[in-house]
Amino acid sequence: MDLDLTKEQRLIRDTVRDFAQAEIAPIAAQLDKESRFPIEIFQKMGKLGFLGLPIPEEYGGAGADNISYCLAVEEIGRACGGTGLSYEAHVSLACMPLLLYGTEAQKQKYLTQLASGDGLGSFGLTEPGAGSDAGGTRTTAVLDGDEWVINGNKIFITNGGYASTVVLTAVTDKENKGVSAFIVPTDTLGFSTSSPYEKMGMRASNTVELILENVHVPADNLLGPVNAGFKQFLSTLDGGRVAIAALAVGIAQSAFETALEYAKQRKQFGQSISRFQAIQHKLADMAMHIDLARNAVLKAAWLKDQGRPYTIEASYAKLFASEMCTATCNHAIQVLGGNGYMQEYPVERHLRDAKLIEIGEGTSEIQRLVIARQLGC
Ligand code: CAA
Repeated sequence: MDLDLTKEQRLIRDTVRDFAQAEIAPIAAQLDKESRFPIEIFQKMGKLGFLGLPIPEEYGGAGADNISYCLAVEEIGRACGGTGLSYEAHVSLACMPLLLYGTEAQKQKYLTQLASGDGLGSFGLTEPGAGSDAGGTRTTAVLDGDEWVINGNKIFITNGGYASTVVLTAVTDKENKGVSAFIVPTDTLGFSTSSPYEKMGMRASNTVELILENVHVPADNLLGPVNAGFKQFLSTLDGGRVAIAALAVGIAQSAFETALEYAKQRKQFGQSISRFQAIQHKLADMAMHIDLARNAVLKAAWLKDQGRPYTIEASYAKLFASEMCTATCNHAIQVLGGNGYMQEYPVERHLRDAKLIEIGEGTSEIQRLVIARQLGC
């Protein structure tokens, strides 16, 4: 058993950390305040090869492993939660299904564009009646000659307003509840998006509704076999859950660092508050829980890299890291006291960002359901 990162994994983590701390962290508060998606950061990340980090080089990626990718998500999330979420959705939810289920022609045409940073990807699963019950999809796709005609609405879609390509689900067999996956270029006639949602947190991430009105895509834009879309998306979400858990670790790490630094500087009753046991216990718990969550992420990513099953470990990581992140950000605010509640300090933003991770890519309740089913309950 070897718990050390390889030289390459450390190099990727440090490169992403340097970039994120220099370019993203200084603007994170402003992005949150203005609810602004940092398109210029994504263009830079594209040039640096981050947008296709775990995608093979033959499809425009960097050919790194999933451990390196999770370390990158953590570092970007540590600098800005919303930017980390959009990054993660692009790679895990748009690039990955294209890599796993795309034909060679689809990979050359769509994956290469996304992985090389020439476009942004988005994932369209959630609908008004299909949230936790992802099988409740109502969007339809009907084959008309050599084209699919897609009609429906998708909600809460990360990156939708900036994406060049959306990978989405639609019902293709109403009687048997058959769902298929499709690749939809966003410049297709009939495809439009709403204005961005006003969100509690993750405000640097773009989130919109997708509206599909008689959207015609070539028959070749079916992703994977017909009626296999549901299983494809569940398996895609397994990977996404590991990466979004890494995002939770990054946000929690940032909140912890702020709290630790503050506790050392802040003097009350004649000494630094870090000398008080009440504060020490909080900081000790925060450090321990972050480390345990990071280990859960790395184990699940390692299993994925080995080509081994990791569904239960993905849900362990997502559930533990997301709940840990909210609790850690809450403790960080408490350590900072009145200052923690002020927008001048980053920890209130971290708490608002953290809450999303208990909901997106499967709520905590769904993670417990997945774990219980894996246990044979
Ligand atoms: N991988 C592959 N196949 C899987 C699978 C997995 N992880 N889990 C289940 N399957 C298979 C099952 O074996 C089953 O196959 P058969 O029909 O051949 O037996 C099939 O898929 C259906 O499985 P279930 O019977 O378990 O399906 P279900 O309807 O009971 O639902 C669920 C399962 C776990 C609740 C699922 O609906 C789910 O994960 N829901 C949450 C959805 C979700 O995470 N949404 C997040 C949206 S994305 C997002 O938030 C992104 C963002 O931008 C923030």
